[in-house]
Amino acid sequence: MRIIVGSDHGGWALKEDLKKRLEAEGLSVTDVGCYDTCSVDYPDIARELCTRLLGEGYDFGILCCGTGIGISIAANKIDGIRAAHVSDAYSAAMARAHNDANVICLGGRVLGDELAWSIVQSYMASSFQGGRHQKRVDKIADLEKGVACDQQ
Ligand code: RB5
Repeated sequence: MRIIVGSDHGGWALKEDLKKRLEAEGLSVTDVGCYDTCSVDYPDIARELCTRLLGEGYDFGILCCGTGIGISIAANKIDGIRAAHVSDAYSAAMARAHNDANVICLGGRVLGDELAWSIVQSYMASSFQGGRHQKRVDKIADLEKGVACDQQ
C-alpha cells in the first residue's frame, strides 16, 4: 500500500506522528511537506498532494492542518479528489465505504495522536461498497464536469 501525506504547519506534528506509525506498519509513505513548523499555506500542500495522488497512483492521501477544515476545502476543489474531513473512526470508515474518499483530512490542533491513529486505522480497514454508492460518487464526478444530475 502506497500512502501520500502532507500538512501545513498546524498539522505538521500530527502528520509526523502518523507517518512514523504507518512506516512502523511497513507501509510506504511519501511526504509532500511541510517539513517543519514554519508557516505555509495549506492550499499549496493540498494541491501538491492531490496532484501527485491522482498522477502517481497512490492508494490514498492524508492531509493535516490545524483543524482539517481549510485543507479539506482546498483538496475538494481538485477534480477527482474526494476529501473527507473526519474526527471520528466511524466517519472515517464510512468515508471510504460510502463516499470512496481518496483523502482524509485531520485537525492537528483538534485531535490527539491516539484518536487520529484510530481514525486512520479505521479508514484503512474499510473499503468502498460500490452498488448504490457508486451512482452517487458518479454524480459527484458529474458535478465536477458541470453536468446536471437527474433526480434518480
Ligand atoms: C493555520 O494557522 C490554520 O489556519 C490552518 O492550519 C487550518 O486550521 C485552516 O483551516
